[in-house]
Amino acid sequence: MGDEGADAPPTRTREDDVGKVYLVGSGPGDPDLLTVRAARLIESADVVLHDKLPGPEILGQIPAEKREDVGKRAGGEWTPQEYTNRRLVELAREGNSVVRLKGGDPFVFGRGGEEAEHLADAGIPFEVVPGVTSAIAGPAVAGVPVTHRDYASSVSFVTGHEDPTKDESAVDWDALAATGGTIVVLMGVGKLPAYAAELRAAGLDGDTPVALVERATWPDMRVATGTLDTIVDVRDDAGIEPPAITVIGDVAATRDRVVAFLENGESAPVGAGGREEPESEAESESDSTPESEGESESESTPESEPDRGENA
Ligand SMILES: C[S@@+](CC[C@H](N)C(=O)[O-])C[C@H]1O[C@@H](n2cnc3c(N)ncnc32)[C@H](O)[C@@H]1O
Repeated sequence: MGDEGADAPPTRTREDDVGKVYLVGSGPGDPDLLTVRAARLIESADVVLHDKLPGPEILGQIPAEKREDVGKRAGGEWTPQEYTNRRLVELAREGNSVVRLKGGDPFVFGRGGEEAEHLADAGIPFEVVPGVTSAIAGPAVAGVPVTHRDYASSVSFVTGHEDPTKDESAVDWDALAATGGTIVVLMGVGKLPAYAAELRAAGLDGDTPVALVERATWPDMRVATGTLDTIVDVRDDAGIEPPAITVIGDVAATRDRVVAFLENGESAPVGAGGREEPESEAESESDSTPESEGESESESTPESEPDRGENA
C-alpha cells in the first residue's frame, strides 16, 4: 500500500498514458502452436504489427482493422526496421496495447533483440512472449528430431543468409562441420549451394542426410530430402522456396524411418522432391507453391538489413 491519504485524488502520470508492447512469437504458423498467452494477447491487442512469417492461418484470424503489415511492401521493398521501431514507440505512446507478432520465437533470428533495446531506450514498457521456433518445430513436424541419442548430441542453429565465401562471414562452417552434431540453417534456401559446398570442403561426407522443410505447419507445407551431394538438385527440382528450414546431419534420415506413420499436418503433402519419393508426387507438389510466398530473399534485401533475407 502507498502512503497517500484515502482522499487523495487519483493522479495520472505520464506512464499511465503509455501503452505496452508485447514482442510475441507466433510459432511456425499452425494456430494450434500459438502459446495460450500469444493467442490471448492477439485477441486483446489494439494493434498487431506483423510480417508474413506467422503464416496465412494465424494472420487470417486477426481482424484486418487491427493489423499492420511491416513486412514486405508493395514493390518488393522491405519495411525499414527503423520504421517498425518508430511505429512501436508511437503506438505505445498513444496508449495502445501493441503486439509485435513475429514468426517462431521473437529472439531467434527475428530482430526481437533489437526491438527490445529500442523500446528500452525509448522508455516503453514491454514484455517478451517466447514462441515455438521453426528451427526446432520445422524439423519435428517433418519427422526429424534435432537431437537423437544415437545420431546427434548437439545442434547448431545458423543463418544461411550470409555469403559463406566472404571473409567477414560470422558463420564458421568448418567449425560447424567439426561438431559432428545437427546443423539447422534458417534463411538458407538461396545460399544452399554455397554452404553445402563449404561443409563438403570442411570434411562432411557427401552422403550426409539433409532435409528441407518448407512452410512448416502451414496448410501447404512441403518436405524434400536428399544428401549433401544431391540437395541442391532436390531443391531445384522441387522448387523449394523461403520460408524453409535446412536440417543437415544423420538425424535427417530419421524421417524416412517414420514418415509412413507420421500424421503431423496430415493434409499437407510431404516428401516433395525427395530422392525416395515417386516422381509424380514431387511434380504435383512443386506446382502448389503460391506465388505470394515465392519471395526470393537475397535479391530483394536491402544491404542494411542482412538478416531480413528470408523473413517472408
Ligand atoms: C528471420 S528468420 C525468423 C525465425 C523465427 N524467429 C523462428 O524462430 O522460427 C526467417 C526464417 O525462419 C525460417 N522459418 C520461419 N518460419 C518457418 C516455417 N513455418 N517453415 C519453415 N521455415 C520457417 C526460415 O528459414 C525463414 O527464412
